[in-house]
Amino acid sequence: MATQNIYILAIESSCDDTAASVMLNGKILSNVVAGQSIHEAYGGVVPELASRAHQQNIVPVVQQALKRANVDKKQLSAIAFTRGPGLMGSLLVGTSFAKSMAYGLNIPLIDVNHMQAHILAHFIDEDGFNKPPFPFLAMTISGGHTQIVKVNSHFDMEVIGETIDDAVGEAFDKSGKILGLGYPAGPEIDKRAKLGNPKAFKFTKPKVEGLNFSFSGLKTAILYFIQKETKANPNFIEENLNDICASIQYTIIGILIDKLKLASKQTGIKHIAIGGGVSANSGIRQALKDGEGKFGWTTYVPKFEFTTDNAAMIAIVGYLKFLEGEFAQQSVTASSRLKI
Ligand code: KG4
Ligand code: ZN
Repeated sequence: MATQNIYILAIESSCDDTAASVMLNGKILSNVVAGQSIHEAYGGVVPELASRAHQQNIVPVVQQALKRANVDKKQLSAIAFTRGPGLMGSLLVGTSFAKSMAYGLNIPLIDVNHMQAHILAHFIDEDGFNKPPFPFLAMTISGGHTQIVKVNSHFDMEVIGETIDDAVGEAFDKSGKILGLGYPAGPEIDKRAKLGNPKAFKFTKPKVEGLNFSFSGLKTAILYFIQKETKANPNFIEENLNDICASIQYTIIGILIDKLKLASKQTGIKHIAIGGGVSANSGIRQALKDGEGKFGWTTYVPKFEFTTDNAAMIAIVGYLKFLEGEFAQQSVTASSRLKI
């Protein structure tokens, strides 16, 4: 019997990237992302500008994704889209587009939780990347989220820790702003951290019970530290930038690894996966590798293009839900605070 070819078109528009991807039976055929540089001038994402840019980008991005995959829309088996969480105006663009396209083509519609997608990105068929066995722990770290999730199966997930204020990406970006770096500052802090001394300056780690995180105190501590030092020496930042970046990154990684250690100890799970934009950070990647030797972990880091916001991760969830026959109704609506 011939096996059925399942083509999924996936759309992601939860924040400031408009993305579309085409997947065939769990393998990515195309993965198109249009970023929005307009927010750089404002030092952060401006929701109204984001939804307007999604409206401009969505048609060409979807067309590109189909073209690069060499797939005609008539071949599609279903359309998957990000239902939430995210910015309401941004989510609405992808949701309405997906609903009308599925209706027009008379094919199933599949709603996807963005946070589940960051985790299930590890299940995309990709040479050289292993899929974590269940149960495993997933830490999602980005500009919008910081969570530790116990993943029992594809769709049985339990959030066991999360931030009570800022996300870890915001800790990087807001520290960068204090230092006068561009937005988003994470990549530059990472680059400079490689050239600096991580122990040059000491920042106290926040004391948060259990597996939850807090990053807003660290940002304030960095602000006061910089204000004090620049009062004494106006050139303090310029003269010490690499050391400051290395020290900030070292502190943030310490916070993340401490909580992962605790989560692993509490659950007895040693398979650890990461996802989200901050998993591009070279320091966190190294710290995870070190954890393999130190704590007996097996770690999983997705391919770079699947770590930041993308539609390939939406496509894999769409494919897995398609196999389960879990479809959405045309009455489905975007949900900005959707939970795992
Ligand atoms: O997943 P993402 O593209 O978007 C969401 O926020 O959902 O993550 C973006 C975040 C930004 O805060 C950015 O500064 C951070 O990921 N980031 C990094 C690095 N690359 C991106 N943070 C630290 N080191 C990096 N190399
Ligand atoms: Zn994300």
